Amino acid sequence: MRSRILGLGTYVPDRVVTNDDLTQYMETSHEWIVERTGIEQRHWVSEGQTGADLAEQACRRACTNAGVALADIDLLIYATLSPDHDFPGTGVFAQRQLGLGTIAVLDIRQQCTGFIYGLSIADAFIKTGTYTRVLLVGSEVHSNAMDISTRGRDIASLFGDGAGAALLGPSDEPDCGVLSCHLHADGSEAEILWMEKPGCMYQPRITAEDIEAGLHFPHMDGRRVFKHAVTRMPESVIEAVTANGLTVQDIDMLIPHQANLRINEMVAKQLGLPPGKCHNNIQKYGNTTSATIPLCMEEAIALGKIKRGDLVCLTAFGAGLTWASALMRY
Ligand code: UT7
Repeated sequence: MRSRILGLGTYVPDRVVTNDDLTQYMETSHEWIVERTGIEQRHWVSEGQTGADLAEQACRRACTNAGVALADIDLLIYATLSPDHDFPGTGVFAQRQLGLGTIAVLDIRQQCTGFIYGLSIADAFIKTGTYTRVLLVGSEVHSNAMDISTRGRDIASLFGDGAGAALLGPSDEPDCGVLSCHLHADGSEAEILWMEKPGCMYQPRITAEDIEAGLHFPHMDGRRVFKHAVTRMPESVIEAVTANGLTVQDIDMLIPHQANLRINEMVAKQLGLPPGKCHNNIQKYGNTTSATIPLCMEEAIALGKIKRGDLVCLTAFGAGLTWASALMRY
């Protein structure tokens, strides 16, 4: 038995922040951001809007698009790097808002690779018959956790808020659905993209000096992350097609994580995929971490670029370091 995406749903907050808007807070320019990243704008939450709020909307839309009632869901998987609280995981807050009763909730922390890790868990539970209606959501609120000043411009110009969800269930067509997932991690360079503090390993977990130094903001060695991303993402795509006796040329559409348009153009080029077979929408949303893949895939479906039965490959790379791919006949 295979699992299949029965419906996708996405949600971004109303507030649009353009590159020009960012120049109020930091020394940057529309030209720099577009040239280095492809990003033209991103969405930020309004005061009081939470990650669970974004997730709730995306989940409701995924269920509607799948034609599945909320009452039929038996597992919620919540992927995020920006939880609403340290604990409990944000999944239970989304569960409560969705009125999902006492179903199982699983929070996962694989950052930009969270959606594919979550997909692999949903796939495994469905294949074993443990659960039949699994709601997977990636939701992020970055805007209130970044250094919105010139000091933090390398990060603050990249990330946006948003959520994307998929409702998965057993496939009624034997050839369609998730063919395989390939997950990887390498902690040897965990510190090249991280938020160090507050941390349980410190006493106290954070000090006034740490805050002054900005250690509670995310930090990244952008060039190093870039180099890993353009190596690991093509590797993971080749791993996916090879495991299924297919070739890159068989792929109808590649949906890569949206961290940087230049990264994705290099990935597609290395794979020999024409631009029409790789969909990107980072221009509108920036990097929404665990939400990029459903946001990008749903758009490609809406534009008619992905049809039922097409061979679709997902690939992602992010903090950890983590990377992964999934191949499916949508
Ligand atoms: O999803 C998680 C994975 N994340 C990624 O995959 C991100 C990977 N990395 C990248 O996308 C790129 O490395 C960045 C977009 C973050 C940076 O691009 P870059 O071409 O690698 O630039 P750089 O870091 O080498 O910085 C070049 C210059 C620096 O100034 P100096 O030191 O040369 O004077 C930066 O301070 O650009 C400066 N800079 C900016 N200037 C204007 C950095 N951010 C900005 C900015 N506006 N927003």
